[in-house]
Amino acid sequence: MSMVTLALVGLMNQSVFGQFEGKDVNLYTLKNRSGVTAKIMDYGATVVSLSVPDRKGKSEEITLGFPKFEDYVAKSPYFGCIVGRIGNRIRNGQFVLDGTGYDLESNNGPNTLHGGLKGFDKRIWEVVGTTGGSAPSITLKYVSADGEGGYPGELTSVVTYTVTPSNELKIDYAITAKARTIHNLTNHTYFNLEGPRSKNHLNHVVQIFADHITPVDDTLIPTGDLLPVKDTAFDFTRPRAIGERIDAPNQQITYGGGYDHNFALRGKSGTLRPCATVYEPKSGRVMEVLTTEPGVQFYSGNFLDGTLTGHGGAKYVKRYGFCLETQHFPDAVNQPNFESVIINPGETYNSTTIHRFSVRK
Ligand code: GLA
Repeated sequence: MSMVTLALVGLMNQSVFGQFEGKDVNLYTLKNRSGVTAKIMDYGATVVSLSVPDRKGKSEEITLGFPKFEDYVAKSPYFGCIVGRIGNRIRNGQFVLDGTGYDLESNNGPNTLHGGLKGFDKRIWEVVGTTGGSAPSITLKYVSADGEGGYPGELTSVVTYTVTPSNELKIDYAITAKARTIHNLTNHTYFNLEGPRSKNHLNHVVQIFADHITPVDDTLIPTGDLLPVKDTAFDFTRPRAIGERIDAPNQQITYGGGYDHNFALRGKSGTLRPCATVYEPKSGRVMEVLTTEPGVQFYSGNFLDGTLTGHGGAKYVKRYGFCLETQHFPDAVNQPNFESVIINPGETYNSTTIHRFSVRK
């Protein structure tokens, strides 16, 4: 079968995308029959590209990323990658587990962000399986050594991306540990559902199935409280345009420079349930996010500043793309009231997040 035919029916190892630390970085293409194509690379287990149809059936890029691998190493603000071992922030890069204190690398003011200086996003993951057919998938594995980045205990993370026949990108996580440790992996894809001609995401209409956020201090570490969203700029319980209240006079908005907050999702964590729905009126594209995780970090791309140019020549200005990072609450290891991020040897932690694409006429 030719490469072209393979691409039509399922998975194809498209190419060597670059080199990192003397090794090839590979790019894999997962394609279904109804116009959804995901490109995943083994560096950072990263979603490099995702195209989905608009209301006229035209498939276009809806994520932020670079056509060239070198740009990921040089300047990526976590485009598309898996962040870990702990996504989001840990206060002062410190925590205590079973009476022992641990010091991590601070890379975000006083705090540790997305694992530290060289988190899971900056590692080559091993491809341990691929499938083709009508639901092409790729499974990637990364073994983080005991002591890496300052974290105790060897941790094995297995992430599977599947493009389903119902136009979903499904992300399954399976985490195991050799010793008691902590974990909080998430995918950090930035979206703009309008496609490459977009100016910014402010017209996207968002609904988040959450009645509270975890408010933060000025370094974006949660205070430990739950703040009701009702009648605030964080109230996305009914669909609202992102731009409507993003500059509202609200202390939390000021701290985040816009939205950069964890929403405590309704329902029971561990069960797959609605997290968010995003609708982009010009293209008609809709993204529903479902997750088993307790929370989602809604980040409105406030740190993008126009210096990065990506797919299709798009200039990534402030608020060009947004993230919905499904996760345990930030700094949970230091917050007794937040759901635990501790894993014990012998346990497997399973988690699923689905991005389901459709259109409105
Ligand atoms: C997360 C954080 C943001 C920012 C981005 C990466 O979403 O919450 O503050 O650091 O990652 O730029």
